[in-house]
Amino acid sequence: MTFKGLGQWSQTTLESSVPTKKKILIQLDCDDHASVFDGVVAIDAGVDHLFQYSGVRPPEVRGLIHGAMFTRGPADLHSTAIFVGGSDVSIGHEIASAARSVLFDPFRVSIMFDSNGCNSTAAAAVLSAAKHVELASGKSLVLAATGAVGQAVCTLITSLGGQVIVGSRSVARAEETIEKLGHLGVPIAGLAPLGIEDESSLRIALQEATAVFACGAAGVELLSSDLLSAGVNLRAAIDLNAVPPAGLFGIGVTDKSLQRGNRFDYGALGVGGLKMKIHKHAIQQLFTGNNHFIDAHEMMKIGRSILSA
Ligand SMILES: NC(=O)c1ccc[n+]([C@@H]2O[C@H](COP(=O)([O-])OP(=O)(O)OC[C@H]3O[C@@H](n4cnc5c(N)ncnc54)[C@H](OP(=O)(O)O)[C@@H]3O)[C@@H](O)[C@H]2O)c1
Repeated sequence: MTFKGLGQWSQTTLESSVPTKKKILIQLDCDDHASVFDGVVAIDAGVDHLFQYSGVRPPEVRGLIHGAMFTRGPADLHSTAIFVGGSDVSIGHEIASAARSVLFDPFRVSIMFDSNGCNSTAAAAVLSAAKHVELASGKSLVLAATGAVGQAVCTLITSLGGQVIVGSRSVARAEETIEKLGHLGVPIAGLAPLGIEDESSLRIALQEATAVFACGAAGVELLSSDLLSAGVNLRAAIDLNAVPPAGLFGIGVTDKSLQRGNRFDYGALGVGGLKMKIHKHAIQQLFTGNNHFIDAHEMMKIGRSILSA
């Protein structure tokens, strides 16, 4: 697809009386192979044509976005949208930000940012916990908060006004993550770093927390049975790891609002159903206008409307 200049637009405008344009989703992915998962969800969400670009880097975004902006007339641009994915959330942030900076009126297209499913997963996790605990007034412990999903969980809880203990095996990485979130515009006053290998600090954090989110890499146990039982005030425990062993000892992958004592437990598949609905609805929302930017916050709104429907 090449940018042929604004002259083409006037011609395209005449053609825009054709009632329906095909929905085109342009997938910008930083990995060597664009995510198959994201491609399948896009088609299942009703996208007619999926253009997948892999190995995308921020300097290349301008040309790709121009191709989306100037081929259809402004009245039809709601039928073209951008999906930013890939496993590296930092590059994803840069791609999304580069894409937004290229757009101007009236040649806008909607953008969804969900690198590695981080935002849709985090929105589903936070909304699941919020069914059982007031996150705004409590303290949440986010384990492995340095990853893509963990960072998005911290962002969303902070946006609700809640306090967050940002857990990592390394307190330095926890501090770096808080700094990184600050650079992204997240208010960081309510974020406190924790190195989880300091067991006494971890136990204190567990006693203070009303919700715990395990956002560790697949197949990694973050809390043993003994440590999890130190969480006497926990009302929600969310484990996003689907690969055995569980991230939180004893939580089953299909647990969904499963009550154990005072605590409601969710495993990865227990959260995954809502995540998939949010992901699909977000894709559909892209095509309802040409000016949407769907990030973690927008996905929370989408998730809330799904839950209240
Ligand atoms: N349910 C769903 O729908 C869904 C969707 C997407 C992702 N997920 C799952 O959500 C989880 C988080 O995803 P992600 O992409 O953010 O994960 P990730 O980037 O691969 O890892 C997150 C963090 O895990 C910690 N970690 C890595 N290796 C470890 C090890 N060997 N031992 C202990 N900790 C380790 C690291 O934190 P520190 O180095 O700071 O300790 C890392 O930053 C994954 O389990 C993923 O499969 C679930």
